[in-house]
Amino acid sequence: MRTVRVNAASKSYDVLIGKNAAKVLGDEAKKVCPGAIKALIVSETNVAPLYLDLVKAELEGAGFEVIDYVFGAGEQNKGINEIAGMWNKMAEAGFTRTDFVVGLGGGVTTDMAGFAAATFLRGIKVIQLPTSLLAMVDASVGGKTGIDIPMGKNQVGAFWQPSLVVEDISFLKTLPDEVFTEGMGEVTKHAFIMDLDLLEKLEKAAGDIRSDEDLLEEIVYMNVSDKASVVGEDENDNGRRQTLNYGHTVGHVIERDSGFTKPHGICVAKGMGIVMDACVRAGTLAADDAERMKALLKLYKLPITDDITPEAIVEGAMNDKKKRGDTLSVILVNKIGNAEIKKMTKEEFLKFLSI
Ligand SMILES: NC(=O)c1ccc[n+]([C@@H]2O[C@H](COP(=O)([O-])OP(=O)(O)OC[C@H]3O[C@@H](n4cnc5c(N)ncnc54)[C@H](O)[C@@H]3O)[C@@H](O)[C@H]2O)c1
Ligand SMILES: [Zn+2]
Repeated sequence: MRTVRVNAASKSYDVLIGKNAAKVLGDEAKKVCPGAIKALIVSETNVAPLYLDLVKAELEGAGFEVIDYVFGAGEQNKGINEIAGMWNKMAEAGFTRTDFVVGLGGGVTTDMAGFAAATFLRGIKVIQLPTSLLAMVDASVGGKTGIDIPMGKNQVGAFWQPSLVVEDISFLKTLPDEVFTEGMGEVTKHAFIMDLDLLEKLEKAAGDIRSDEDLLEEIVYMNVSDKASVVGEDENDNGRRQTLNYGHTVGHVIERDSGFTKPHGICVAKGMGIVMDACVRAGTLAADDAERMKALLKLYKLPITDDITPEAIVEGAMNDKKKRGDTLSVILVNKIGNAEIKKMTKEEFLKFLSI
Protein backbone atom coordinates (compact mmCIF):
# COMPACT_ATOMS: atom_id res chain seq x y z
CA MET A 1 0.00 0.00 0.00
CA ARG A 2 1.25 3.48 -0.85
CA THR A 3 0.32 6.67 0.96
CA VAL A 4 0.22 10.25 -0.29
CA ARG A 5 -0.27 12.90 2.38
CA VAL A 6 -2.25 15.90 1.19
CA ASN A 7 -1.40 19.02 3.18
CA ALA A 8 -4.08 21.47 2.14
CA ALA A 9 -4.32 24.72 4.07
CA SER A 10 -7.68 23.76 5.58
CA LYS A 11 -6.92 20.11 6.30
CA SER A 12 -4.33 17.34 5.97
CA TYR A 13 -5.29 13.78 5.08
CA ASP A 14 -3.99 10.56 3.57
CA VAL A 15 -4.68 9.04 0.19
CA LEU A 16 -4.12 5.27 0.46
CA ILE A 17 -3.44 3.55 -2.85
CA GLY A 18 -3.14 -0.18 -3.47
CA LYS A 19 -4.63 -3.43 -4.64
CA ASN A 20 -7.46 -4.40 -2.28
CA ALA A 21 -7.00 -1.13 -0.40
CA ALA A 22 -10.71 -1.18 0.51
CA LYS A 23 -9.89 -3.86 3.07
CA VAL A 24 -8.35 -1.24 5.38
CA LEU A 25 -11.34 1.09 5.16
CA GLY A 26 -12.98 0.04 8.44
CA ASP A 27 -9.89 0.51 10.60
CA GLU A 28 -8.85 3.69 8.86
CA ALA A 29 -12.34 5.16 9.15
CA LYS A 30 -12.27 4.58 12.91
CA LYS A 31 -9.04 6.56 13.08
CA VAL A 32 -10.19 9.57 11.06
CA CYS A 33 -13.80 9.64 12.30
CA PRO A 34 -13.49 9.10 16.05
CA GLY A 35 -16.86 9.11 17.78
CA ALA A 36 -18.76 8.34 14.56
CA ILE A 37 -21.63 5.89 14.85
CA LYS A 38 -23.28 6.09 11.44
CA ALA A 39 -22.07 6.16 7.85
CA LEU A 40 -23.93 6.92 4.63
CA ILE A 41 -22.46 5.29 1.54
CA VAL A 42 -23.31 7.30 -1.58
CA SER A 43 -23.06 5.27 -4.78
CA GLU A 44 -24.74 4.81 -8.15
CA THR A 45 -26.45 2.12 -10.16
CA ASN A 46 -23.37 0.88 -12.07
CA VAL A 47 -20.95 0.78 -9.16
CA ALA A 48 -23.23 -0.29 -6.29
CA PRO A 49 -23.93 -3.80 -7.65
CA LEU A 50 -20.17 -4.36 -7.92
CA TYR A 51 -18.77 -2.93 -4.69
CA LEU A 52 -21.45 -1.73 -2.27
CA ASP A 53 -21.72 -5.01 -0.32
CA LEU A 54 -17.97 -5.23 0.09
CA VAL A 55 -17.64 -1.65 1.36
CA LYS A 56 -20.69 -1.96 3.59
CA ALA A 57 -19.33 -5.15 5.18
CA GLU A 58 -15.98 -3.49 5.76
CA LEU A 59 -17.59 -0.55 7.61
CA GLU A 60 -20.03 -2.75 9.53
CA GLY A 61 -17.14 -4.96 10.54
CA ALA A 62 -15.58 -1.89 12.14
CA GLY A 63 -18.77 -1.33 14.14
CA PHE A 64 -20.48 1.44 12.15
CA GLU A 65 -24.22 1.53 11.40
CA VAL A 66 -24.29 1.79 7.62
CA ILE A 67 -27.01 3.04 5.30
CA ASP A 68 -26.73 3.76 1.59
CA TYR A 69 -28.05 6.12 -1.04
CA VAL A 70 -27.84 4.81 -4.60
CA PHE A 71 -28.67 7.19 -7.47
CA GLY A 72 -28.92 6.59 -11.23
CA ALA A 73 -25.42 6.55 -12.77
CA GLY A 74 -24.48 9.45 -15.02
CA GLU A 75 -23.66 13.14 -15.15
CA GLN A 76 -27.34 13.96 -15.82
CA ASN A 77 -28.11 13.06 -12.22
CA LYS A 78 -25.41 15.29 -10.72
CA GLY A 79 -27.93 17.77 -9.39
CA ILE A 80 -29.70 19.14 -6.38
CA ASN A 81 -32.47 16.49 -6.34
CA GLU A 82 -30.06 13.71 -5.47
CA ILE A 83 -28.29 15.90 -2.90
CA ALA A 84 -31.65 16.57 -1.23
CA GLY A 85 -32.24 12.82 -1.21
CA MET A 86 -28.93 12.32 0.63
CA TRP A 87 -29.70 15.09 3.15
CA ASN A 88 -33.13 13.57 3.87
CA LYS A 89 -31.74 10.08 4.25
CA MET A 90 -29.18 11.27 6.80
CA ALA A 91 -31.74 13.36 8.68
CA GLU A 92 -34.20 10.45 8.86
CA ALA A 93 -31.46 8.17 10.16
CA GLY A 94 -30.58 10.69 12.90
CA PHE A 95 -27.08 11.56 11.67
CA THR A 96 -25.13 13.95 13.90
CA ARG A 97 -22.10 16.10 13.14
CA THR A 98 -19.70 13.30 14.09
CA ASP A 99 -21.15 10.83 11.56
CA PHE A 100 -19.79 10.64 8.02
CA VAL A 101 -20.40 10.11 4.32
CA VAL A 102 -18.54 7.71 2.02
CA GLY A 103 -18.42 8.42 -1.72
CA LEU A 104 -18.15 5.15 -3.69
CA GLY A 105 -17.98 5.71 -7.43
CA GLY A 106 -16.53 7.84 -10.19
CA GLY A 107 -16.12 11.61 -10.14
CA VAL A 108 -19.86 12.23 -10.33
CA THR A 109 -20.31 10.30 -7.10
CA THR A 110 -17.30 11.69 -5.23
CA ASP A 111 -18.24 15.27 -6.20
CA MET A 112 -21.81 14.73 -4.96
CA ALA A 113 -20.94 12.79 -1.81
CA GLY A 114 -18.47 15.55 -0.95
CA PHE A 115 -21.05 18.26 -1.53
CA ALA A 116 -23.71 16.48 0.54
CA ALA A 117 -21.16 16.14 3.36
CA ALA A 118 -20.04 19.77 3.02
CA THR A 119 -23.57 21.06 3.42
CA PHE A 120 -25.32 18.65 5.82
CA LEU A 121 -25.35 20.10 9.36
CA ARG A 122 -22.94 22.77 7.98
CA GLY A 123 -20.37 20.10 7.23
CA ILE A 124 -19.67 16.52 8.24
CA LYS A 125 -16.72 14.32 7.30
CA VAL A 126 -16.42 12.52 3.99
CA ILE A 127 -14.25 9.56 3.01
CA GLN A 128 -13.76 9.07 -0.71
CA LEU A 129 -13.50 5.66 -2.40
CA PRO A 130 -13.02 6.55 -6.07
CA THR A 131 -13.68 3.75 -8.54
CA SER A 132 -12.82 5.37 -11.91
CA LEU A 133 -9.34 6.32 -13.08
CA LEU A 134 -10.41 9.96 -13.38
CA ALA A 135 -11.77 10.03 -9.84
CA MET A 136 -8.60 8.37 -8.48
CA VAL A 137 -6.12 10.70 -10.16
CA ASP A 138 -8.15 13.87 -10.01
CA ALA A 139 -11.71 14.30 -8.68
CA SER A 140 -11.44 12.63 -5.28
CA VAL A 141 -8.31 14.51 -4.23
CA GLY A 142 -8.26 18.23 -3.54
CA GLY A 143 -11.63 19.01 -2.04
CA LYS A 144 -13.58 20.48 -4.95
CA THR A 145 -17.14 19.23 -4.55
CA GLY A 146 -20.30 20.22 -6.34
CA ILE A 147 -23.20 19.68 -8.67
CA ASP A 148 -24.45 20.88 -12.05
CA ILE A 149 -27.31 23.29 -12.71
CA PRO A 150 -29.05 23.77 -16.07
CA MET A 151 -26.79 26.79 -16.80
CA GLY A 152 -23.61 24.80 -16.41
CA LYS A 153 -21.46 22.10 -14.94
CA ASN A 154 -20.14 22.34 -11.38
CA GLN A 155 -21.72 25.76 -10.94
CA VAL A 156 -22.71 25.10 -7.32
CA GLY A 157 -20.29 23.60 -4.87
CA ALA A 158 -17.92 23.96 -1.98
CA PHE A 159 -14.29 23.42 -1.15
CA TRP A 160 -14.54 20.53 1.31
CA GLN A 161 -11.53 18.31 1.82
CA PRO A 162 -12.10 14.61 2.51
CA SER A 163 -10.84 13.11 5.77
CA LEU A 164 -9.41 10.12 3.92
CA VAL A 165 -9.24 8.80 0.35
CA VAL A 166 -8.92 5.05 -0.27
CA GLU A 167 -7.98 4.11 -3.84
CA ASP A 168 -8.47 0.41 -4.47
CA ILE A 169 -6.66 -0.28 -7.74
CA SER A 170 -8.51 -3.60 -8.10
CA PHE A 171 -11.75 -1.65 -8.60
CA LEU A 172 -10.40 -0.46 -11.96
CA LYS A 173 -10.71 -3.98 -13.41
CA THR A 174 -14.40 -3.47 -14.12
CA LEU A 175 -14.05 0.02 -15.60
CA PRO A 176 -15.11 0.05 -19.28
CA ASP A 177 -12.22 0.70 -21.69
CA GLU A 178 -13.63 3.97 -22.98
CA VAL A 179 -14.06 5.33 -19.43
CA PHE A 180 -10.48 4.35 -18.65
CA THR A 181 -9.36 6.28 -21.74
CA GLU A 182 -11.25 9.37 -20.53
CA GLY A 183 -9.25 9.22 -17.29
CA MET A 184 -6.05 9.19 -19.35
CA GLY A 185 -6.89 12.76 -20.43
CA GLU A 186 -6.11 13.96 -16.90
CA VAL A 187 -3.17 11.56 -16.51
CA THR A 188 -1.44 12.88 -19.64
CA LYS A 189 -2.25 16.43 -18.49
CA HIS A 190 -0.34 15.87 -15.24
CA ALA A 191 2.59 14.52 -17.25
CA PHE A 192 2.65 17.55 -19.56
CA ILE A 193 2.27 20.27 -16.94
CA MET A 194 4.57 18.95 -14.23
CA ASP A 195 5.87 15.39 -14.41
CA LEU A 196 8.52 14.27 -16.89
CA ASP A 197 9.01 10.94 -15.07
CA LEU A 198 5.34 10.17 -15.55
CA LEU A 199 5.61 11.15 -19.21
CA GLU A 200 8.51 8.76 -19.74
CA LYS A 201 6.73 5.97 -17.90
CA LEU A 202 3.66 6.40 -20.08
CA GLU A 203 5.78 6.42 -23.24
CA LYS A 204 7.56 3.26 -22.13
CA ALA A 205 4.27 1.50 -21.40
CA ALA A 206 3.35 2.12 -25.05
CA GLY A 207 -0.34 2.68 -24.55
CA ASP A 208 -1.03 -0.12 -22.10
CA ILE A 209 -1.01 0.59 -18.38
CA ARG A 210 -4.04 -1.58 -17.65
CA SER A 211 -2.67 -5.07 -17.98
CA ASP A 212 0.04 -4.59 -15.33
CA GLU A 213 -1.59 -3.76 -11.99
CA ASP A 214 1.71 -2.83 -10.33
CA LEU A 215 2.44 -0.31 -13.05
CA LEU A 216 -1.11 1.00 -12.84
CA GLU A 217 -0.76 1.47 -9.09
CA GLU A 218 2.49 3.34 -9.56
CA ILE A 219 1.00 5.60 -12.20
CA VAL A 220 -2.03 6.39 -10.03
CA TYR A 221 0.37 7.13 -7.15
CA MET A 222 2.44 9.51 -9.30
CA ASN A 223 -0.70 11.38 -10.38
CA VAL A 224 -2.04 11.67 -6.85
CA SER A 225 1.36 12.97 -5.70
CA ASP A 226 1.27 15.60 -8.45
CA LYS A 227 -2.24 16.70 -7.56
CA ALA A 228 -1.40 16.74 -3.83
CA SER A 229 1.61 18.97 -4.38
CA VAL A 230 -0.47 21.50 -6.31
CA VAL A 231 -3.34 21.46 -3.81
CA GLY A 232 -0.85 21.77 -0.94
CA GLU A 233 0.40 24.99 -2.43
CA ASP A 234 -2.87 26.52 -3.57
CA GLU A 235 -6.00 24.92 -2.15
CA ASN A 236 -8.37 27.67 -3.26
CA ASP A 237 -7.37 27.94 -6.92
CA ASN A 238 -5.84 31.40 -6.81
CA GLY A 239 -2.50 30.50 -8.34
CA ARG A 240 -0.70 27.26 -9.17
CA ARG A 241 -3.84 25.11 -8.99
CA GLN A 242 -5.01 26.90 -12.13
CA THR A 243 -2.29 25.05 -14.08
CA LEU A 244 -4.45 21.91 -13.66
CA ASN A 245 -6.77 23.63 -16.11
CA TYR A 246 -4.40 22.89 -19.00
CA GLY A 247 -6.63 21.97 -21.94
CA HIS A 248 -9.71 22.79 -19.91
CA THR A 249 -10.43 26.35 -21.08
CA VAL A 250 -10.92 25.02 -24.60
CA GLY A 251 -12.09 21.57 -23.50
CA HIS A 252 -14.95 22.92 -21.41
CA VAL A 253 -16.33 24.81 -24.40
CA ILE A 254 -16.21 21.69 -26.60
CA GLU A 255 -17.88 19.72 -23.80
CA ARG A 256 -20.65 22.30 -23.34
CA ASP A 257 -21.21 22.71 -27.09
CA SER A 258 -21.79 18.96 -27.34
CA GLY A 259 -24.54 19.23 -24.73
CA PHE A 260 -22.20 17.22 -22.46
CA THR A 261 -22.39 14.20 -24.75
CA LYS A 262 -18.61 14.31 -25.35
CA PRO A 263 -16.81 13.04 -22.22
CA HIS A 264 -14.75 15.44 -20.14
CA GLY A 265 -11.37 13.69 -20.51
CA ILE A 266 -11.76 13.47 -24.28
CA CYS A 267 -12.53 17.20 -24.50
CA VAL A 268 -9.53 18.02 -22.31
CA ALA A 269 -7.28 16.08 -24.68
CA LYS A 270 -8.71 17.99 -27.65
CA GLY A 271 -8.20 21.24 -25.73
CA MET A 272 -4.57 20.40 -24.99
CA GLY A 273 -3.94 19.55 -28.65
CA ILE A 274 -5.49 22.82 -29.83
CA VAL A 275 -3.44 24.89 -27.35
CA MET A 276 -0.23 23.03 -28.28
CA ASP A 277 -0.75 23.83 -31.96
CA ALA A 278 -1.37 27.50 -31.12
CA CYS A 279 1.83 27.63 -29.03
CA VAL A 280 3.84 26.13 -31.90
CA ARG A 281 2.38 28.70 -34.32
CA ALA A 282 3.19 31.48 -31.84
CA GLY A 283 6.77 30.20 -31.74
CA THR A 284 6.79 29.56 -27.98
CA LEU A 285 6.70 25.72 -28.10
CA ALA A 286 9.13 23.65 -30.15
CA ALA A 287 7.36 21.61 -32.84
CA ASP A 288 9.21 18.47 -31.68
CA ASP A 289 7.89 18.87 -28.15
CA ALA A 290 4.34 19.32 -29.41
CA GLU A 291 4.75 16.21 -31.56
CA ARG A 292 6.00 14.25 -28.55
CA MET A 293 2.99 15.25 -26.46
CA LYS A 294 0.54 14.58 -29.28
CA ALA A 295 2.11 11.19 -29.90
CA LEU A 296 1.46 10.31 -26.26
CA LEU A 297 -2.18 11.37 -26.53
CA LYS A 298 -2.60 9.22 -29.63
CA LEU A 299 -0.84 6.30 -27.97
CA TYR A 300 -3.51 6.32 -25.29
CA LYS A 301 -6.30 6.64 -27.88
CA LEU A 302 -7.05 10.26 -27.12
CA PRO A 303 -7.97 12.80 -29.81
CA ILE A 304 -5.73 15.80 -30.43
CA THR A 305 -8.04 18.24 -32.16
CA ASP A 306 -11.64 19.24 -32.84
CA ASP A 307 -13.46 21.10 -35.60
CA ILE A 308 -14.65 23.87 -33.26
CA THR A 309 -13.80 27.38 -34.55
CA PRO A 310 -11.56 29.84 -32.67
CA GLU A 311 -14.55 32.23 -32.49
CA ALA A 312 -16.73 29.59 -30.83
CA ILE A 313 -13.97 28.74 -28.35
CA VAL A 314 -13.49 32.39 -27.35
CA GLU A 315 -17.22 33.04 -27.09
CA GLY A 316 -17.72 29.98 -24.92
CA ALA A 317 -14.65 30.64 -22.79
CA MET A 318 -15.82 34.18 -21.98
CA ASN A 319 -18.91 32.64 -20.34
CA ASP A 320 -16.95 30.17 -18.23
CA LYS A 321 -17.16 30.46 -14.46
CA LYS A 322 -13.38 30.36 -14.15
CA LYS A 323 -13.04 33.64 -16.04
CA ARG A 324 -12.02 36.57 -13.82
CA GLY A 325 -13.11 39.98 -15.10
CA ASP A 326 -12.44 40.61 -18.79
CA THR A 327 -9.35 38.47 -19.00
CA LEU A 328 -8.94 34.73 -19.26
CA SER A 329 -6.23 32.71 -17.58
CA VAL A 330 -5.02 30.41 -20.32
CA ILE A 331 -2.68 27.62 -19.29
CA LEU A 332 0.24 27.04 -21.63
CA VAL A 333 2.94 24.38 -21.75
CA ASN A 334 5.89 25.83 -23.66
CA LYS A 335 8.35 23.36 -22.19
CA ILE A 336 7.27 19.80 -21.38
CA GLY A 337 6.86 19.43 -17.63
CA ASN A 338 6.26 23.14 -17.02
CA ALA A 339 2.99 25.00 -17.18
CA GLU A 340 2.45 28.74 -17.11
CA ILE A 341 -0.60 30.89 -16.58
CA LYS A 342 -1.04 33.52 -19.27
CA LYS A 343 -3.64 36.23 -18.89
CA MET A 344 -5.29 37.06 -22.19
CA THR A 345 -8.07 39.42 -23.20
CA LYS A 346 -10.80 38.13 -25.48
CA GLU A 347 -9.01 39.67 -28.46
CA GLU A 348 -5.63 38.26 -27.51
CA PHE A 349 -7.10 34.78 -27.02
CA LEU A 350 -8.78 34.93 -30.43
CA LYS A 351 -5.53 36.02 -32.05
CA PHE A 352 -3.63 33.26 -30.22
CA LEU A 353 -6.03 30.62 -31.55
CA SER A 354 -6.39 32.04 -35.08
CA ILE A 355 -2.81 32.74 -36.18
N1 LIG B 1 -13.68 17.57 -8.00
C1 LIG B 1 -12.76 17.64 -8.93
O1 LIG B 1 -11.66 18.17 -8.71
C2 LIG B 1 -13.03 17.04 -10.27
C3 LIG B 1 -11.98 16.87 -11.18
C4 LIG B 1 -12.25 16.26 -12.39
C5 LIG B 1 -13.53 15.83 -12.69
N2 LIG B 1 -14.54 16.01 -11.77
C6 LIG B 1 -15.90 15.53 -12.06
O2 LIG B 1 -15.85 14.12 -12.21
C7 LIG B 1 -16.91 13.71 -13.07
C8 LIG B 1 -16.38 12.74 -14.09
O3 LIG B 1 -15.86 11.63 -13.40
P1 LIG B 1 -15.93 10.17 -14.04
O4 LIG B 1 -15.35 10.21 -15.39
O5 LIG B 1 -15.38 9.25 -13.02
O6 LIG B 1 -17.50 10.00 -14.24
P2 LIG B 1 -18.58 9.00 -13.61
O7 LIG B 1 -18.63 9.11 -12.15
O8 LIG B 1 -19.83 9.25 -14.37
O9 LIG B 1 -18.00 7.57 -13.98
C9 LIG B 1 -17.84 7.22 -15.35
C10 LIG B 1 -18.57 5.92 -15.67
O10 LIG B 1 -17.83 4.84 -15.13
C11 LIG B 1 -18.67 4.02 -14.33
N3 LIG B 1 -17.80 3.45 -13.30
C12 LIG B 1 -17.09 4.12 -12.37
N4 LIG B 1 -16.30 3.27 -11.70
C13 LIG B 1 -16.50 2.03 -12.21
C14 LIG B 1 -15.96 0.75 -11.97
N5 LIG B 1 -14.98 0.56 -11.07
N6 LIG B 1 -16.43 -0.29 -12.66
C15 LIG B 1 -17.38 -0.11 -13.62
N7 LIG B 1 -17.91 1.08 -13.92
C16 LIG B 1 -17.48 2.14 -13.23
C17 LIG B 1 -19.74 4.94 -13.86
O11 LIG B 1 -20.90 4.25 -13.49
C18 LIG B 1 -19.96 5.82 -15.08
O12 LIG B 1 -20.79 5.16 -15.99
C19 LIG B 1 -17.48 14.97 -13.68
O13 LIG B 1 -18.72 15.25 -13.07
C20 LIG B 1 -16.46 16.04 -13.33
O14 LIG B 1 -17.05 17.32 -13.17
C21 LIG B 1 -14.29 16.60 -10.58
ZN1 LIG C 1 -10.62 17.80 -15.77
